[in-house]
Amino acid sequence: MAKAKIVTYGCQMNEYDSHLVESQLVSFGVDMVDSIDEADFVLVNTCAIRGKPVEKVRTLLGTLRKAKHERGLVVGMMGCLAQLEEGQQIARKFEVDVLLGPGSLLDIGKALEANERFWGLQFKDEINDHIVPPPKGKLGAHLTIMRGCDHHCTYCIVPQTRGPQVSRSPDSILRELDQLLEAGIVEVTLLGQNVNSYGIDQGRRVPGLPSFAELLRRVGASGVKRIKFTTSHPMNFTEDVAVAMAETPAVCDFIHLPVQSGSNRVLRRMAREYTREKYLEHVETIKKHLPNAVFATDIIVGFSGETEEDFEQTLSLYDEVGYDAAYMFAYSARPGTPSYKHFEDLPREVKVERLARLVEKQKEWSMRKNAAHVGKVMEVLLRGDAHSDGFLEGHTRGNHPIVVPKALGASGAGLYRARIEHATPHMLYGKLVNAHGEVLPELPRFDPASAELASPLPMA
Ligand code: SAH
Ligand code: SF4
Ligand code: F3S
Repeated sequence: MAKAKIVTYGCQMNEYDSHLVESQLVSFGVDMVDSIDEADFVLVNTCAIRGKPVEKVRTLLGTLRKAKHERGLVVGMMGCLAQLEEGQQIARKFEVDVLLGPGSLLDIGKALEANERFWGLQFKDEINDHIVPPPKGKLGAHLTIMRGCDHHCTYCIVPQTRGPQVSRSPDSILRELDQLLEAGIVEVTLLGQNVNSYGIDQGRRVPGLPSFAELLRRVGASGVKRIKFTTSHPMNFTEDVAVAMAETPAVCDFIHLPVQSGSNRVLRRMAREYTREKYLEHVETIKKHLPNAVFATDIIVGFSGETEEDFEQTLSLYDEVGYDAAYMFAYSARPGTPSYKHFEDLPREVKVERLARLVEKQKEWSMRKNAAHVGKVMEVLLRGDAHSDGFLEGHTRGNHPIVVPKALGASGAGLYRARIEHATPHMLYGKLVNAHGEVLPELPRFDPASAELASPLPMA
């Protein structure tokens, strides 16, 4: 039997796509294995967003080319980089056998059929309509509600790799959700480059598709316990989404609203199509409907032409919003993007220095926000064992990562309540409690330091 392994770089959409292709491979009778060494076929799901992920792909493909010559490994490349001329050159250089763009994932059968290593497999078009079987044993799942992007942010390669926006029909989304629920999923994250423009493809409302706010309500009616979504483009944000969030109990009070910069001058050069003032208005609207809203964002520092004053405006915007979390990036000029063609890149030292200052700001805020939760009881979705023996890890409705000791009746994945006892900028630490807020007895755990069974901590 053919053995395959998919290596995934990039965002949640790539993870979703890897799972989609994996499901397809499994339906052909391919056996999925954990390590590259065991595999006859390695498929690399690539990302092209910044220079770094592209470098990682090159390094891996270099290693795989060796294995190709040494033991006849079949090498595939899919995802965003595979769609670009840059990626196709890389594929030629590293002698990639199978190339799949993000828009042609379901051609994996045809692509493999042509390779003699896979003769004997049953290639059939099992998964149509992008319905993905749920990941085994997981309580949270991603669900792609749209593909592509209609924006043209000047720094971004995604519109070229993933093409124009195509919204998926609510029927097919809800059908996939039903399958996820049957498999026991309690949290779903709806994915799109810009979920706020769901149902409006290339500026036109697609007949029969609801608004994103309406879709949230329908997903909420399915019985799923927690709903999150990413990403919201501030330009297309509308108040009805905040209202739907507030009125749909399953929707978490968590919003990922990438701002990219706090300076109007930079936002204009980025072609983000909103101003700092408009962004802050959206934040106010969300806070009005969801007083406990948790905000996360994406920020690019050192974009072409960003001055010290521009950067300070990003820092001051951070303070005005008070984000719980942020993904922060130094600008990476990507060949093929408008900003690469038309603007000059800033020196690396400037970007590195600003990034470090922004990270400091983020740490301060995350510490402050996390510390404010100490003493509270929160709903936690634990996905399983943490790194340390005897502990479980997961996240809150506000997406804060959390670690708790295992307790009586709570020794594995599940939806629980925890009282927060301690916080760092990156983690909450808590204890599991029952419905009355009483701490559950902890399970004894193995303490590697003393190499004996440590007794549980005294009950609070
Ligand atoms: N559609 C999402 C973003 C997807 S890309 C949105 O518009 O919010 C994820 C993040 O990568 C972006 O939000 C941006 O912060 C970052 N990013 C994109 N292109 C980049 C580049 N050329 N250099 C550095 N960061 C970049
Ligand atoms: Fe890229 Fe902008 Fe589209 Fe986001 S909205 S994927 S940043 S072009
Ligand atoms: Fe995601 Fe990277 Fe593509 S961030 S959309 S995998 S370029």
